[in-house]
Amino acid sequence: MSDLVQVGLVGVGIIAETHLEVLAERSGISLEFTVDPNVAEPTAFRGTRSPHYSGLVEALDAHQPDLVVIATPTDTHADLAVQALTLSSARVLVEKPLVHDLASLTRLRSLGETADVRGRVFTAHHFAFSPEVRWGAKQIAEHPEWGPVTGITSAFYDPYVLRGEQAFASYISSWMDSGVNQLSMLARFVDLTELTSADRQMDGGASSWCTVGYRSRGTAGTARLRSSWLTGSSSKETVLAFGRSGVEVWIDHTAMTGFAAQGGSLLAAYGNDGRTPRKVAHYRPLYESLLSGRPDPVLSFDTAAIVTELHNVD
Ligand SMILES: NC(=O)c1ccc[n+]([C@@H]2O[C@H](COP(=O)([O-])OP(=O)(O)OC[C@H]3O[C@@H](n4cnc5c(N)ncnc54)[C@H](O)[C@@H]3O)[C@@H](O)[C@H]2O)c1
Repeated sequence: MSDLVQVGLVGVGIIAETHLEVLAERSGISLEFTVDPNVAEPTAFRGTRSPHYSGLVEALDAHQPDLVVIATPTDTHADLAVQALTLSSARVLVEKPLVHDLASLTRLRSLGETADVRGRVFTAHHFAFSPEVRWGAKQIAEHPEWGPVTGITSAFYDPYVLRGEQAFASYISSWMDSGVNQLSMLARFVDLTELTSADRQMDGGASSWCTVGYRSRGTAGTARLRSSWLTGSSSKETVLAFGRSGVEVWIDHTAMTGFAAQGGSLLAAYGNDGRTPRKVAHYRPLYESLLSGRPDPVLSFDTAAIVTELHNVD
């Protein structure tokens, strides 16, 4: 992208705060406008306030951004992405999940080459950028002697039961929200192939359980994914088992830590200095990659399409 990146931010809710915090640290960024029908005040960005609109169409009438960031409730992503693609020439970073159903994926795909969907649409699969995930992926790449990943168990808990109906309005369900984070995170470690269980949702959408097939170093395996909002605390953990060598890699996404062990021996460990808040630790490298000119494939439309197809299979 060019030296000065003019950004339009659509949706000024919870996650928008992290986008603004990370964008504000970077040089060469200007916030051209914000859009949110439920927010009256323009947002402060590096001490100044950019024009604020209640709708994206109106904003794109007045501005030519280089990047449109869509950070709105999940079921609005598709409509807003189509508006950004057809009414501007900007790249579009859409919060995860890219879309909430397969019909919306088809709709985006149908814009095809005319709108350069594959070249312009990126999805903020932020969990794939978390430091403990990148550490785990590096360990696996550096240790082929561990053999294939023969089993994965991942459990993601968010305290959204406390937010009641608002959680369903913003995120639809635990599977819609955490399932995408789990799948995009696992894409760092293995090649996902198919969802292997039905009836994923439970507790009225507040919890989920499913199994996903994958391949690792030529071997097929199964990942077990649990997520739930029925808790007062956030806790997220993933365990990768390498059955042939007896190695296990435990990664704690809440603490952003990890370790690898084999029997009673600690093989490697990862920690952090405690200074970087978790969401900043995800979005800082995400933007670094997006704005680098060679965005990580995990941000690509093609990865989002694979994740969406796995995630929404009936
Ligand atoms: N909260 C998180 O930790 C988090 C983390 C990663 C990704 N996400 C994703 O980000 C998205 C937003 O989540 P959130 O937690 O910020 O939700 P939120 O409800 O806090 O914020 C969404 C904002 O979008 C605004 N909005 C609604 N419709 C709009 C429209 N048509 N145009 C412009 N603005 C509109 C709302 O008024 C609200 O201010 C979701 O897709 C979610 O999955 C959230």
